[in-house]
Amino acid sequence: MNELIIKEKIQPHLSPKRFGHTLGVVEVAKKLAIRYHEPIEPVVEAALLHDCARNFSNADLLKLAQENAIKIDRVSKNDPSLLHGPVGVVIAQKDYGVYDEAVLNAIRYHTTGRKKMTQLDKIIYLADCIEPGRNYKGLTELRDLAVFDLDMAVLEALTNTLKFLLDKGQLIHKQTVSARNDLILRIKKG
Ligand SMILES: [Fe+2]
Ligand SMILES: [Fe+2]
Repeated sequence: MNELIIKEKIQPHLSPKRFGHTLGVVEVAKKLAIRYHEPIEPVVEAALLHDCARNFSNADLLKLAQENAIKIDRVSKNDPSLLHGPVGVVIAQKDYGVYDEAVLNAIRYHTTGRKKMTQLDKIIYLADCIEPGRNYKGLTELRDLAVFDLDMAVLEALTNTLKFLLDKGQLIHKQTVSARNDLILRIKKG
């Protein structure tokens, strides 16, 4: 589906704030795609749809996960908003006709990350963290790093997420730990 059509179709399903965030993610993801030679079209699709289930209630996320055989681990059960990635995949397929597995994976794992992240996964994960609407300590440095070294920037973003969760005393999803361990080992190998 073409960018403008998805944009128009998704707008009523997101709060104005979330729609603004989504457009910010698209803008940054496009720049990263050009910088790192990733085909633009799948990047734009994934960026536009990454939060398509973000405004669903916890009850709806749990219900849709159950109906679509999405595994609900303990951490996601405790915080069902973590399911907006996997449930977003169902919506992207059903309502937007997206069946490209690479795009669907970028949507599925944009919150937690995963082991063996593809470049597309990394671009969406990072764009989500650094889009213009974000504001947190270290963001300027992370934005600079993003155009310099994609892997190091994703590693920094994963580390920030883990630190934030630890500081807040919150649960940590094992996929985020896996994503970070895997990336560090890959960077070491070169
Ligand atoms: Fe999200
Ligand atoms: Fe997002």
